[in-house]
Amino acid sequence: MKDFNGKVAFITGGASGAGFGQAQVFGRAGCRIVIADIRQDALDDATSRLRAEGIEVHSVRLDISDRAAYAAAADEVEAVFGGPPQLLFNTAGVNSFGPLENATYEDFDWIFGVNLNGVINGIQTFLPRMIASGRDGHIVTTSSMGGFAGSATAAIYNATKAALINLMESYAITLPKYGIGASVLCPASIRSNIADAQDTRPAHLAANSGFRSDEAFIELQRRLYSGGMDPVELAGHVKRAIENNDLYILPYPETKEAVRAHFEKILDAFAARDSDPEGAQQRAQAFEEYRAEAAKTAGSTK
Ligand code: NAI
Repeated sequence: MKDFNGKVAFITGGASGAGFGQAQVFGRAGCRIVIADIRQDALDDATSRLRAEGIEVHSVRLDISDRAAYAAAADEVEAVFGGPPQLLFNTAGVNSFGPLENATYEDFDWIFGVNLNGVINGIQTFLPRMIASGRDGHIVTTSSMGGFAGSATAAIYNATKAALINLMESYAITLPKYGIGASVLCPASIRSNIADAQDTRPAHLAANSGFRSDEAFIELQRRLYSGGMDPVELAGHVKRAIENNDLYILPYPETKEAVRAHFEKILDAFAARDSDPEGAQQRAQAFEEYRAEAAKTAGSTK
């Protein structure tokens, strides 16, 4: 997609950080912007800032982990703009850090509920509408460099982000036939308000956490993120990726060697077990036969 003028862009987490940067950049490129966020005060503030620039913006208060509310938000967008968005930015996300072995079900439920299920809800809600509209489109999901490897203290967050990378790889395979592109953005650090994500944690999931949320720890994180990439600069990378239909958006070159080391470790593990070449060849052939047969029937399934 090269021309953004007049296109509707739905941005989750659009009231702050990376999502607000996307609202600015795509609004300046002529998109009609919908910012969806769980925080009404942040939505109000972001809306007036965008309007002050002359950007057409509609705001929706939405908890992306709530499927029914997501469907209602999509209906609202269609009523306001006369159709579904052509650009969907799954940007909202939360984090919480602590030793994995201290994690509670509530920690898993909150982080998976927003970071992974929230994205699934967004795509499940809008994709059928985008396909039915017959127009070109693009879906960008914000993952993280953390999605490439496990971690002792960001384990739940990283697991959700790993799933998002994998999911977007699959959409990049399946969506081109509808004229819809798919990209996954993996930031390392953004100048944003994510250090305060705990403020959006629902009370029933906040009551029992195994992780630290004291002011000193949050202040430490604020300092870390204050040195991150400017959200407008980051959104510029996203815009260029959509224009080029790139799947991976990796604008942090300083992280490249760590990714290489991670995948090399995986590749090294293969070499150590390559002891049965004939069996390996038979298994690979069986997979190819399965794939060819399955591809014939794939079109008939919904
Ligand atoms: P941010 O906190 O400034 O913005 C996130 C927005 O999402 C907030 O306005 C928040 O109210 C909203 N939000 C939270 N839960 C929500 C929910 N259930 N429903 C709807 N909206 C909700 O944070 P930031 O950094 O801009 O985060 C954007 C994305 O970037 C997230 O997916 C995050 O995981 C990812 N990311 C951030 C990094 C960083 O260094 N800040 C690094 C890598 C990835």
